Amino acid sequence: MRIGVMTGGGDCPGLNAAIRAVTRAATDQYGFEVIGVLDGFEGLINNISRPLVPADVRGVLRVGGTLLGSSNRTNPFAYRDAAGRQTYDASERAFATTRQLGLDGLIVIGGDGTLLLANRFAEQYGVPVIGIPKTIDNDVHGTDYAIGFDSAVSYVTDAIDRLHTTAESHHRVMLLETMGRTTGWIALYAGVAGGADVILVPERPYSVEGVVKAIERRAGLGFRFTIIAVAEGVVAPTGEQHYRQRVGEPHEWKLGGVCDTLSAVLRNHVRQEVRGIVLGHLQRGGNPTAYDRTLATQLGTHAMRLLADGASSLVVGIRGLEIASAPLADVAAGARTLPIDHPLIQASQAIGVYIG
Ligand code: F6P
Repeated sequence: MRIGVMTGGGDCPGLNAAIRAVTRAATDQYGFEVIGVLDGFEGLINNISRPLVPADVRGVLRVGGTLLGSSNRTNPFAYRDAAGRQTYDASERAFATTRQLGLDGLIVIGGDGTLLLANRFAEQYGVPVIGIPKTIDNDVHGTDYAIGFDSAVSYVTDAIDRLHTTAESHHRVMLLETMGRTTGWIALYAGVAGGADVILVPERPYSVEGVVKAIERRAGLGFRFTIIAVAEGVVAPTGEQHYRQRVGEPHEWKLGGVCDTLSAVLRNHVRQEVRGIVLGHLQRGGNPTAYDRTLATQLGTHAMRLLADGASSLVVGIRGLEIASAPLADVAAGARTLPIDHPLIQASQAIGVYIG
């Protein structure tokens, strides 16, 4: 058998670990050939690929990013022409590539957008596809944790640790804006791990009054600083989300800016100095944590096993301690948001964190 592997959507730490797992399991365990499709669907549409053998993945386990490259906005069913104006269906071209390369199946490592497209491609052209969920946002259905999430949380936690020392020295209120799109997984996990005093997530409405009270309560207890972790997708009490770029379709708009807006609002209400920090793409860079390396190894090898067994249109994932699979179509259910009574939300409330 010859299988293709590709990465699509925004990069994150742990992608190379998954590519390594797929390549080594395919060659060592099954004697299959592996073709790396470059730049996600872009490579499939334009037939850009390279063979992968175990020597090609030596040393990549600990390296962030993706050795195969990725494309964030390429949709084979609505492909943008060279001028970027018109879109047309290029999925047949992508299918032709799979025939030319002699691929018997594809392993697609991606977030919800990429996996949805992969599912449509599998259904329409009968190409066996297994999906592996990756995203720092952790918002893909079918898994408790997506590859990349733990690394992002670890980085953001470190950032909050660093903010603590300077916030305390200068008696400041410091806001830290995290990524996460429409979900608050990163803000919640890193906020709790870093000991933030206020955590704002899109899933729970907050009030400015509530945030101010939390700051004042701390001041009353003798703490002259406050750390606020705020997810980029948080909905302001006025009902707006904040965007740093509105280009293309609304679902393509780039979230960001809540930190600046909320900082300005808080300055009118509290006496302490208020400062905001946006971590941005630093959250997606760097090397994967041990957890993401082991998760990627488990999901990569499981995906390979499923493909070798003749399965298709599945997404692999971790649920509890089990490595499992679910229909790839399940990712169509939209972003996997935080349950509003998530145990970590309950725990934060129990220790006095204001969380909306
Ligand atoms: O989905 C991952 C993510 O990093 C989001 O958290 C963020 O909103 C978005 O991608 C940023 O996208 P881009 O890299 O295109 O700016």
